[in-house]
Amino acid sequence: MLNLILFGPPGSGKGTQSQKLIERYGLKHISTGDLLRSEIANATSLGIEAKSYMDEGKLVPDIIVIGMIDNALNVHSGIKGVIFDGFPRTITQAEALDSLLLSRDSYIKKVIILNVEEVELAARLLKRGEHSGRSDDNLTTINKRINEYKNKTAPVASYYELQNKVTHIVGLGNVDDIFTNICNAVGTKN
Ligand code: AP5
Ligand code: MG
Repeated sequence: MLNLILFGPPGSGKGTQSQKLIERYGLKHISTGDLLRSEIANATSLGIEAKSYMDEGKLVPDIIVIGMIDNALNVHSGIKGVIFDGFPRTITQAEALDSLLLSRDSYIKKVIILNVEEVELAARLLKRGEHSGRSDDNLTTINKRINEYKNKTAPVASYYELQNKVTHIVGLGNVDDIFTNICNAVGTKN
């Protein structure tokens, strides 16, 4: 299976590039942010709990997101592979993902890290916030999200660097050029 992780700070283009990758490689897209927003839209108890963290720019507790991934992998059995977008975001989540995949005789093939500088991230998220309806439409929440990334999520890169799975891609510039660089890093046509 071709299981990929798209990794990077908020606003680095993970969602944008995921859409292109699922078309190119025929993979399933699992985004914990999208799953959480869908729980919120359906006013489930999980969604109500998650919303309080998301509105604050904080990470949702590991136990909630790991459970969602377990369910999503069950729903998507018998597929070519998965793009994990926005997951894992902590070392605990990375370890859980390895064991969830191992129990399905699978593993992560590659981790693509999108590198974008902070001023550009904030500018993109402010612009998206004008029409997205997402709660990260102001600098206070955006800065909290960037800090959560630095403190809790950035260390996850080393977890995969130790496994020799990481490729860094410059996430600035033309969306199609970035996509070409990601495809070259993935290095397979199917
Ligand atoms: P989530 O929805 O996962 O946020 P994210 O995906 O990290 O970040 P964004 O969606 O903000 O950015 P992105 O990298 O996908 O960029 P995009 O393509 O949209 O998480 C939201 C919240 O849910 C978290 O804060 C947390 O509370 C919770 N959560 C989710 N997963 C969790 C987990 N695993 N553990 C705990 N909590 C979790 O692009 C951004 C903008 O830039 C767009 O407007 C786009 O059009 C534009 N853009 C993209 N590429 C370019 C480019 N090359 N040039 C110019 N503009 C560009
Ligand atoms: Mg996203």
